[in-house]
Amino acid sequence: MSWNPELYHKFRSERFAPFEDLIGLIAVREGLSVIDLGCGTGELTSMLADRLPGSDVLGIDSSPEMLEHAKSKEKERLRFELRTIEDVSGEWDLVFSNAAIQWVEDHAMLIPSLFALVSPGGQIAVQLPSNHPHETQMLVPEVAKEPPFADALKGWSRKSPVLSINAYAELLFQAGGMNINVFEKVFPHVMRDTDAVTDWLSGTMLRPYFDRLPEELHGRFLDRYRERLREIYPSDPVFYPFRRIFFSAMKTNLHG
Ligand SMILES: C[S@@+](CC[C@H](N)C(=O)[O-])C[C@H]1O[C@@H](n2cnc3c(N)ncnc32)[C@H](O)[C@@H]1O
Repeated sequence: MSWNPELYHKFRSERFAPFEDLIGLIAVREGLSVIDLGCGTGELTSMLADRLPGSDVLGIDSSPEMLEHAKSKEKERLRFELRTIEDVSGEWDLVFSNAAIQWVEDHAMLIPSLFALVSPGGQIAVQLPSNHPHETQMLVPEVAKEPPFADALKGWSRKSPVLSINAYAELLFQAGGMNINVFEKVFPHVMRDTDAVTDWLSGTMLRPYFDRLPEELHGRFLDRYRERLREIYPSDPVFYPFRRIFFSAMKTNLHG
């Protein structure tokens, strides 16, 4: 999937708050081996590395565009590699991921496989958006069903793989997780207008639609989405409550 780092960075301050909440879940120790799954531009990975003294941090991402930015942030004990989340192997004291696994399918399979990457005594800490039932997002597949987009997309629209918080707790427990902590939080963003909401979605949720639509339909798709959005939010500013799921669990250290 293609990404636009500049567009993604437009809402960086809104993205810092959930990252801070996620950092708050980490049991900080000296000298951890850490992997950041779906590190994007590496900005937050670099901040993560700064908060974990003496740790070796590897950020991985499947987007060459995002990774190009990340590479410029490499320093001692912080590296980045082009790799998919599905291809990660090895053992890590901290398996970390901020706003990325919502792009990976089949979480019932994914969560145990991510937990398997955690070393004994280690931890998994993940944040993922769960805003798919919000009307701003429900509107996207609706526009995709309209002509001429439906034909160009061959009827395709993206189904969110995100599960309920109970399901993540259950999956972590079944995988052998201890000290399981799962919660959902609403981030109450106030957006200037519906165009700002459209920009936000253009940097994230709309990417797979743009990948599938011919370039000449990108602008028309955005125009139609904006138009439909204005029907729902006729006045400015737009209150945009954004839900996110956080989960964390530890793995038993069999050697005490
Ligand atoms: C919303 S961005 C989050 C980036 C960063 N973690 C942050 O919080 O700023 C999602 C990132 O996940 C990456 N991504 C999506 N699917 C992936 C996959 N299967 N494997 C690796 N990276 C993936 C994208 O390329 C993108 O950089």
